[in-house]
Amino acid sequence: MRKAEDARSRRASTARMTRRRLMGVALGGAAAVAGKLTEPFGAPAVLTAASGPLKLGVLLPYSKVYQQLGEDITSGMVLYFEGVGSKAGGRSIAMIREDEEIDPQVALRKGRKLIEGDNVDIIAGLVASPSALALRDLVHNSKTLLVIANAGANAVTRARRSPYIFRVSFSNWQTCYPIGKWFYDNVARSCLAGASDYAAGHEDINAFKESYLAAGGKVVAEVYPPLNNTDYGPYVAQMQKAKPEAVFVFFAGSDAARFVTQAAQYGLLKEARLAGPGFLVEEDVLPAQGRDALGAYSSLHWALTLQTPENIAFTRAYRERWKRDATVYAMQGYDTARVIVEALNATGGDTTNKARLIEAMAAVKFVSPRGPISFDPETHNVVQAMYVRQVREVGKAIHNVVFGNLGVTKDPGT
Ligand code: PHB
Repeated sequence: MRKAEDARSRRASTARMTRRRLMGVALGGAAAVAGKLTEPFGAPAVLTAASGPLKLGVLLPYSKVYQQLGEDITSGMVLYFEGVGSKAGGRSIAMIREDEEIDPQVALRKGRKLIEGDNVDIIAGLVASPSALALRDLVHNSKTLLVIANAGANAVTRARRSPYIFRVSFSNWQTCYPIGKWFYDNVARSCLAGASDYAAGHEDINAFKESYLAAGGKVVAEVYPPLNNTDYGPYVAQMQKAKPEAVFVFFAGSDAARFVTQAAQYGLLKEARLAGPGFLVEEDVLPAQGRDALGAYSSLHWALTLQTPENIAFTRAYRERWKRDATVYAMQGYDTARVIVEALNATGGDTTNKARLIEAMAAVKFVSPRGPISFDPETHNVVQAMYVRQVREVGKAIHNVVFGNLGVTKDPGT
């Protein structure tokens, strides 16, 4: 009996050792630097902090309403990584991709798989706010760094913030609060508000209303179609009934393409001015919207036509590499990759000392294609300028043109 138990426990212990040893080789430097695996299991001395690949879990939508957003973020990341020889802190970068499927339960399951199954060093990505909210406790409790490349859920850099979470993109508040007063002063004293019926849509409209109502504006009605919708007919009819001077709406991805096309088709865009956070008429959907989008006002932290040396270089390189125009999502992916590379360069590739890695990442700041960016040390949310844009004809093409700057925007953090 005891013999059998001993044998079992010896076998289990050998299996554990083998597994750890394999991990030590696969993860290279991380394990070696921790000094735990090299001596007892004799990992080769050539393994240094910078020798094993950095395992980067990339969790993004590769299906449904935000599929293109996920593709664009990935393309932006790949472009940046290729530009630095696919190395961060001397380690090669291995991307492990998973589809968040715009479903918080799926995102959580995939996040757990990346952390527990693949042993990733860092997770990057997330487009939909509910996915970010779903992943918060998992990354916090497992002490896994999460670099958010899009999802704007306010809480992940407010009440539910974590030292392990950095957001390179925006908070939902950031994209909509600054334009409220501008919209009152320059476009309409009263309007209809609308959005996809989920966390990001409601947070956007709440932030817009916060400044618009304070300026004296009046919201005559609110309409919330479901996320991942195809037929906007009934919702457009509801909007027309309220006879608004203007509509301020949040839709993104294929929802934005369909809403604008159908709002034009049913005549709403002849009756009311169109505005919203820039995702509504961003470069991923403009080709489908075409002339229907002309004249739309939006606020966003980037535009394809921004004439800065950094943006000219980025948009040119992106076009050359992918044979299509960059989008705000591509830019966010590009910057997410840069944040990871710069933090890793600062730690010499070490991802095991979390406190040091967090400190290095918090200190990253640079002039992005969107303009200067840094992290708010309190919240780890990005600090950046917000622009006012309008869809105009640029030569033979149709693009967003920046014509106003709402100033540097920092989320209030509470
Ligand atoms: C979000 O869910 O936070 C979200 C999704 C798409 C966008 C912006 C925000 O374009």
